[in-house]
Amino acid sequence: MEKGLFISFEGIDGSGKSTAAEKLCAYLREKGREVVFTFEPGGCEWGKTMRDILLHGSYAPAPRTEALLFAADRAEHMAACVFPALERGAVVVCDRFADSTIAYQGGGRGMDMESLAMLSDFAAAGRMPDITFYLSLPVDMAAARRQGQEDRMEQEKKDFFQRVADSYEHLAQQNPERIVKIDATCDADAVWQQIKDKIDAFLQY
Ligand code: TYD
Repeated sequence: MEKGLFISFEGIDGSGKSTAAEKLCAYLREKGREVVFTFEPGGCEWGKTMRDILLHGSYAPAPRTEALLFAADRAEHMAACVFPALERGAVVVCDRFADSTIAYQGGGRGMDMESLAMLSDFAAAGRMPDITFYLSLPVDMAAARRQGQEDRMEQEKKDFFQRVADSYEHLAQQNPERIVKIDATCDADAVWQQIKDKIDAFLQY
């Protein structure tokens, strides 16, 4: 029987989700919880190779291949990292999960979203996050916030990211019981305050 809590963070590249996820981890650890911070693609040891292939390789795989590789990474990540942690009773905070596949491979690449949802469901053995924080902000603002060298996905054009953002908005509307939409146009402290309010209410701190 699983005792843990599964939380994911989602948003377009540059939305500030990694910073927000770090803050949530620190906060929950202060509260005495065991917290496992992880990410996709590449959250488990074996997944590092997958992350390199998907994001840093010179070869751009066909969209179906890309979707299958993200799914394979997810299946291994769940088996090797997420499920064991949840069974121990840990809080798992995951930077990106199944919604990324719908938004990027579905919205961005234009692949069939129902097939992608089935693929993710198979990879994750039906386990979705208990809560997803979706950091919402316009694509221009996100692009301006991006730092460092761009990976293969980040090199996509603005219209790609607009389709990704539109898909996230749609997902948030369709799944209000799971997805908490956060206004990420404000500064990091204000973003964190919104997340803290939600998690306090959820865990009744
Ligand atoms: P991420 O690690 O969040 O990149 P960064 O740390 O630079 O913000 O995500 C890596 C990229 O992988 C991101 O562009 C989204 C993409 N991605 C997909 O296209 N599909 C997926 O299923 C996942 C998990 C990520």
